[in-house]
Amino acid sequence: MSTRTTTIGVDRTRATARSGELAEWYAEHGRHDLPWRETRDRWAVLVSEVMLQQTQVARVLVAWPAFMRSFPTPEAAAAVPVGDLLRAWGRLGYPRRAKRLWEAAAIIAVRGWPDDLRELPGVGRYTAGALAAQADDLDVAALDVNVRRVLERVEGRSLTEGAAHEAMVDIGAPLRGRDRLLALMDVGAVLCRPRDPDCDACPLHDRCSTRGVRTDERRSRQPAFAGSFRQRRGVVMAELRAGPAPVGGLDAEALASLVADGLAIVAGPTAALP
Ligand code: ADE
Repeated sequence: MSTRTTTIGVDRTRATARSGELAEWYAEHGRHDLPWRETRDRWAVLVSEVMLQQTQVARVLVAWPAFMRSFPTPEAAAAVPVGDLLRAWGRLGYPRRAKRLWEAAAIIAVRGWPDDLRELPGVGRYTAGALAAQADDLDVAALDVNVRRVLERVEGRSLTEGAAHEAMVDIGAPLRGRDRLLALMDVGAVLCRPRDPDCDACPLHDRCSTRGVRTDERRSRQPAFAGSFRQRRGVVMAELRAGPAPVGGLDAEALASLVADGLAIVAGPTAALP
């Protein structure tokens, strides 16, 4: 006798087996060795998420341990001038992230962690959710680009924020909280890649509407770095990380924009990190 119970159009046993496959796949193939996954410390997780917002995992693997050695707690980060964090940020790019992290550290050091993590500078909806899920194992749905791509491919359509949260709970079941977020994130990063998805190995294969073939996917490409203003700012930041420098030898426009962002200071003929 079949053990499957079928209700109109929905094979319940099959649905459970499929979602169990996600948990099995994650246990076996998840990226459990990423160092920031070894900790539940909120500050450590926040630093990792801020770094990972715009930087590839391979580069964060180098930067995060060194940064955490220098600034193991919000108190340690808040106790130094912002320039020290900018120096430790090194070549990760988008240095405003380091400045916001320093501002967040100052708030946490004085008042503790706010109930609503989005009150912290640089912490938006995704980062707040990712922090709650990973550090506190709360059953919140957090959507980064990888997770959203997985959900939209499985569902075969673009999803509003609310629909994507529901899909995350549904597709991620029986996983919850931390494991659900990281399992779906890893499926997105390892298998359900933007191009060339490995559908044969995917634990969501059977229930996926599109098997990676979607014609209406939003393409989020980062603007070219070479020749950009961001690159020019990066050159000035690299000079200032090495030490104070004569203003005359620096790209004036890039320096002015860094000063306006609070990432550099000018005193007379000399520019430096704040
Ligand atoms: N682990 C936890 N958060 C992550 C992220 N944003 N990217 C990659 N791995 C992660």
